[in-house]
Amino acid sequence: MKKRDKKSQQFDHLGKRYAFFVAKDPVRNFLHYPQIRTLIAFSPQTRVLDIGCGDGTFLRLLTKEKVRSLFGFDLSPQLIALAKKQNRQHKKSSFTVSTPQKFTTTDLFDYATSVMVLPYATNTKDLQSFFRCAFASLQPGGSFISIVFNPLFHAFDTVVANRKFTKMTKLKIRVSFLDVKHLREIFTSQLTQFSQKHYEGAAEKAGFKKMHWQKLSPTDRGLRIYGGSFWKRCIKEQPYAIFLCTKTTR
Ligand SMILES: C[S@@+](CC[C@H](N)C(=O)[O-])C[C@H]1O[C@@H](n2cnc3c(N)ncnc32)[C@H](O)[C@@H]1O
Repeated sequence: MKKRDKKSQQFDHLGKRYAFFVAKDPVRNFLHYPQIRTLIAFSPQTRVLDIGCGDGTFLRLLTKEKVRSLFGFDLSPQLIALAKKQNRQHKKSSFTVSTPQKFTTTDLFDYATSVMVLPYATNTKDLQSFFRCAFASLQPGGSFISIVFNPLFHAFDTVVANRKFTKMTKLKIRVSFLDVKHLREIFTSQLTQFSQKHYEGAAEKAGFKKMHWQKLSPTDRGLRIYGGSFWKRCIKEQPYAIFLCTKTTR
């Protein structure tokens, strides 16, 4: 198996276990997804492309909004099969197995999103292909909103919400996904801590000119359900960051 396949297929192997974790994960449901949602201006014409959509949980949340269409792709056949099954009744959603190198569309999107997918790129060339794909799939004026592993995060080897991050090499990070109650490890993944320069360079090469970084904070509901002490380190150490690029017309 090629190196790229091995790394990016981590979630295909986890399959249902990963989908089950995401469904109840406070970080995805009260930090990542709501924040991306607030950055989208919904209208009945809005088209959203979710790159590395996993089992389609994020797009399923968007079915409650006014949208024209929701499209997700992921390289994991297992997760796409789950996405199709779970989104059967949502006629505006469609999913396919694909990669940024292979994906093409004639219907351009208003937004492209990706939630913790870019850090699973194997190298900067692979990272660039995500930005190229997003740029080619967006309408002029459209935005690519990504949640990534924060290039500036340094609080390794300590529990942050229900995650623990361990630095393996200069850029390689091992993530332990923990159960909320006992903080026991459920599964692990390996990602790359790309620098801001890596992300900005990849975006620029793809054609994006306007870009900015944003912090994340949990929703009030997330704070109420899990409590301030659960979120404290996450708010202080910011393990994740939003990177937003807009396809400007000039
Ligand atoms: C951490 S999971 C995030 C999934 C989903 N975005 C979510 O919110 O739960 C990373 C996802 O990226 C997908 N992925 C990684 N590399 C990919 C690539 N080159 N092309 C398409 N999908 C990829 C994986 O299969 C996996 O589903």
